[in-house]
Parts: sequence; structure tokens; C-alpha cells
Amino acid sequence: MRVAIIGTGYVGLTTGVCLAFTGHTVFCLDTDEAKVEALKRGKIPIYEPSLEELLEEARPNLTFTTSYPEAIPHADVVFIAVGTPPTPSGAPNLEFLSQAARSIGQHMSTGFTVVVNKSTVPIGSGNWVDSLLRDAVSTRADKNEVHFAVASNPEFLREGSALHDSLYPDRIVIGADEAKALEVMYTLYRPILDQTFSAPTYLPRPEGVGAVPMLSSDLASAELIKYAANAFLALKVSFINEIGLVAERVGADISEVARGIGLDSRIGPRFLSAGIGWGGSCFGKDTAALIATAGEYGLHLPIVESARKINSRQRDRVVEKLLNELKLLKGRTIGLLGLAFKPNTDDLREAPAIEIAQKLIDRGVRVKAHDPIAMGRFTREHGNMGVTLCDTPESVAAGSDALVLVTEWNEYRDLDWETVGKSMRSPFILDGRHALDAEKIIRSGMRYATLG
Ligand code: UGA
Repeated sequence: MRVAIIGTGYVGLTTGVCLAFTGHTVFCLDTDEAKVEALKRGKIPIYEPSLEELLEEARPNLTFTTSYPEAIPHADVVFIAVGTPPTPSGAPNLEFLSQAARSIGQHMSTGFTVVVNKSTVPIGSGNWVDSLLRDAVSTRADKNEVHFAVASNPEFLREGSALHDSLYPDRIVIGADEAKALEVMYTLYRPILDQTFSAPTYLPRPEGVGAVPMLSSDLASAELIKYAANAFLALKVSFINEIGLVAERVGADISEVARGIGLDSRIGPRFLSAGIGWGGSCFGKDTAALIATAGEYGLHLPIVESARKINSRQRDRVVEKLLNELKLLKGRTIGLLGLAFKPNTDDLREAPAIEIAQKLIDRGVRVKAHDPIAMGRFTREHGNMGVTLCDTPESVAAGSDALVLVTEWNEYRDLDWETVGKSMRSPFILDGRHALDAEKIIRSGMRYATLG
């Protein structure tokens, strides 16, 4: 099939590359010329493991362009995967979405096209995009031959494992009010649903992956599924962090507690890692948007609101713990291990490290930091914050009064703690992710604490 994808961010680019890899002819469109030029040269604007390799394999089926007239006509399916950044009220900014919908309406071929919302959009956006498309089509001379249907296909990929999540998804959700649109989407995703593509060597098919379930629903349900999924994952993390507070007081080990409840298949083991809490562009934005949507109907969502409050409290708890340990923060040097909002990405949006660094700087602390991948981006986006970046985790430790593990990159797990501790002014580490070997660290002579 011929596919066009508007927006080459995480979602658009991953979707485009995966669909091209599974045999479709894909046009990826972005209005950012520099980005498109870079993509044509095989340069990926984001850090995502294996994306560059898969793009090279899929290249014969991929075209990058800034031109709607090149990408849209003749496409059977057009995905909208543009950004929907949050506005101060919590509601997403839909400017890029509306521009994309209008341009698609102007350039859609005659015949039948499915226009798919893949961006995370407020409930009701499917109908809204439909009306924008209709308006754009109505100005065309050939309007009577242009037929389309809008579908919602929410994305569940995680940054850092975006390709794995796209090729081997738990499910594919399609919302559409027209059966014909569902049929087209089924055909498009068939290689993934039936797992008939040959897996790349660097992205092997996990054992036990069989046919992928496709859930088809109406538009509004698909749109709500996306928000409900992210809100539930966010509150799972906040729940374990709340229980972590109790665990700390009663002397229980929160990792053991998480394991113990996660073995109950009704609860499940994932998203129960206690610590600094969630960051990233999705959970914060989507929980805020869900609350904003509910508010439009006069509804309060106390569970989702509490999940957000608990998450923000975890950042304050880092400062409290450091204060407790060091007694005075002013004039201290504290080193952060990790800047990205999670490992395997250089994404710093709503990264806990930024918030924690700012809180410490506000209290007169000198902050040093290291990240294996995100330091370049940090310099570009937050270079004037006053954080000193170090080339190695060891140089973050040297002369510091405390270390905080903020992002659980693998390379921080096996540091030589004895050398690290000896180089510090005061050998203390706060493991914000329950990721380090506490016994080994304590044996090395360092003091060790966690959240929860
Ligand atoms: C999240 C969802 O997991 C995806 O399914 C969804 O498609 C995506 O949002 C989106 O809406 O685009 P992502 O934000 O990439 O994906 O990252 P996650 O792996 O979900 O992690 C989010 C945050 O939660 C990270 O800061 C991570 O460190 C934190 N987390 C995660 C915990 O603190 N504890 C856990 O047990 C799990």
C-alpha cells in the first residue's frame, strides 16, 4: 500500500520506518527542511536504538519530503503524527494537527483515503479532523470524487524501545466509524498482526510472540484508550511510590513488595519500579490533558490528579533526603548520574534531572552531571542552567558531597564504587531508581539510600 506520514518525530518516524520495512511504500513528510535533508542522508534527529539500521533496510520503500503535493496524492493511508505539545492549561496545542488536516484535504487523491490520527489528541479530535478535511475538500473542483474516512490509531511505543514496540506490539487499536476504514487498516497492519515479516537480526522476534490482537472500536473509544493507558501506567508508578513511603517507615523493602504484588497476574510486574517517578513527554502531558477534558464535562479525576501530585512529591523527596543526609545544602556539590528521562533515549522533556537540578541550584548547591547520550542535547536546551557537565561518571563523583542516580543507565550499575567513594568529599549515593547493588556499594564503604 502507499502510505504518507505527516510529522517525523518519534511516532511518525518509527511508524514510517516500520511500515516501509514491512513492505509498504512510505512518504514521510515534515515541514522542517533541515530535518528532512538530514533524514535523506540517513541522519536520524533522535536517539533511538536500531532506528538508523532499520531505516537503511527500509530505505528502498521510503521517501522523505517537505512537499504535501508529493506525499499525499495517491496515498491509501495518511497518518497524522505531528506534535501536540501541552499549553499552560494542560490542554494540548492542536495547531500542527489542524494545519496538517487542512493540507491533507487540499491534496488527497480522488478515490478513497483513510486519514489516521496517530498523534495523541483530545477525545473528539477524530470528528474535528473530519470536519477540517471536509472544509478543505469542499473548496476543490473535484470534490465529488474525493472520499475519505478518519480513523484513530493510538500509539503505545516507548522511547528507547520504539521499534520493538512497533514491530511486536501487545495490541493494535483502530477506531473508526466506517467499516471500510477498518478493512484498509487491517490490510496495512497485516504483516505485523500476523508476524509474517522476517525479523531483523538486531531486533529479534521475542519468544512466544504470536498473532497480535487488533482491537477495532469507534473513534472516541480509541482516543480514550490512549489516555486511559498512559494514565493507568502513570498511576501504577505513583502507587508504588506511595507504598514506598510506607515501606520506608516500616522498614520494608519496596522492591520486594513490588515483586510480591506483581506476581499476581491481575496486577502484573511491570511499571512498579519505585523511585524518582515518571518524566518524559507523555505521562505528564496526557494526564494533564485527560484532567482538562474531564473538566470540560464538569468532572474531577481525583485518582489521576493524585498520581500527578505523588509524582511531583518524589522530586521534593530527593531534596529532603539530601538535606537529611548532608544537613546543609548551601555550598555543597552534588553529582547527578543521568539526565535523560529514562535510559536509551536522549529525550529531556520533563526529565526529573532538570527539575531536581533546578531545586538544588535554587538552594545554593553546585550541580555536576553526566549522561552517556543526552549531554549534547542538555547543552543545547538547558546550557544556561548552571549545571557543570562531566565526561565520565567518575569525574562527577570526584569532590562531590553526594551522588544521585537519576537515570538507570546500565553503565552506572558497574562502577568501581570503592574508587568512586574515595574520590568524593563525602561518600554518599542516593539511588533514585532502585537500580544499584546496595550491598556492594555499602561494602565499598559508601553510604547508600533509596526512595522507598
Ligand atoms: C509512554 C508509554 O509507556 C507508551 O506506551 C506510550 O506510547 C508513550 O508514553 C506515549 O504516549 O507516547 P515513554 O514516555 O516513552 O512511554 O516511557 P515509559 O517507558 O513509559 O517511561 C515513562 C517514565 O516512567 C520514565 O521516566 C520512567 O523512568 C518512569 N517509570 C517507568 C518509573 O518510574 N517506574 C516504572 O516502573 C516504569
